[in-house]
Amino acid sequence: MNKIGKLFGIGVGPGDPELITKKAIRVINEADVIFTAASTKNNYSLALEIADPYISDKADIQNLSFPMIKDKLESSKAWNANAQIISNILKQGQKAAFITLGDPMTYSTFGYILTAMEKVMPEAAIEVVPGITSFHAAAARCNKILVEAEETLAVVSGAYGGEHIRSIAEKVDKIAIVKAYKNTKDINKALKETGFYKNSVAISKCGRDGEEIIAEIDALETRNPDYWTLILAGK
Ligand SMILES: C[S@@+](CC[C@H](N)C(=O)[O-])C[C@H]1O[C@@H](n2cnc3c(N)ncnc32)[C@H](O)[C@@H]1O
Repeated sequence: MNKIGKLFGIGVGPGDPELITKKAIRVINEADVIFTAASTKNNYSLALEIADPYISDKADIQNLSFPMIKDKLESSKAWNANAQIISNILKQGQKAAFITLGDPMTYSTFGYILTAMEKVMPEAAIEVVPGITSFHAAAARCNKILVEAEETLAVVSGAYGGEHIRSIAEKVDKIAIVKAYKNTKDINKALKETGFYKNSVAISKCGRDGEEIIAEIDALETRNPDYWTLILAGK
C-alpha cells in the first residue's frame, strides 16, 4: 500500500516575484501536484505565474474551482469536492502543493481547503508555508509603519464597505483594509467618521506591473479600483 502523501499550503507572496520564501521555492519544486484556485473574481493564475519558474517539469498542475457564492451549503459542497480531489492525490502517496497569493492563512482559499480536509481526510498530513501578506508588502512599499510601541492593528475586509471600520475604530490605532475595491464610498465615509481618513493611503497591485499608490483615497470612488487594492489607515 502507498504511504499517504502530504499537502502543503504555500504562500507565494503578494505579487512581487522576489517576495517568495526559499522554503516555498523548495516545496514547490519538490511537489508532484500543484493546485491553484480559480474563481470569477480572483486572478489566481498570478500565484501560478510566481511559482512557475520553480515547478518541476514532471509536476501535474491542477486548477480547482472555488465558486464565490453566498449559499453556504453550495459553497461547502464545492470546497469538499476540491478536498476530495486533493485527498485522492495524497492517497496515491504524492506530495501536493496548494499555492496561494500572499499568506495562506490570511483571507485565502487555502483556509476553505484546510477546513474541508479536516472533514474529508482528517488523517492527512498538512503543512503550511507562510507568505508575505499584501498589507506587509504595502506598508514596506509606502514606508508606512504598520504598528509600533503599544499600538494595535486591525485587519479587516472592506467588501461590505465601512461596516468593520466603524465597529473596530475606537479600539485600535491602525487598520489594514483588504478587499477595498468596491463600496469605496462607504469605506471613505467610515474612515472620515472615525478619524482615520487623514492618515490613510491606498495601494493597488503592490509590487506588480501597474502598481499605484493613491494618497488621496477619495479618488478611489471615481477610479473603479482594481480587485488588488488595499488601504492602510491610522489615527
Ligand atoms: C482574498 S484577499 C487575499 C489576501 C492574501 N492572502 C494576503 O495574504 O494578503 C485579496 C485582497 O488582498 C489584497 N491584495 C492582495 N495582493 C495585493 C497586492 N499585490 N496589492 C494590493 N492589494 C493586494 C487586496 O485587498 C485584495 O482584494
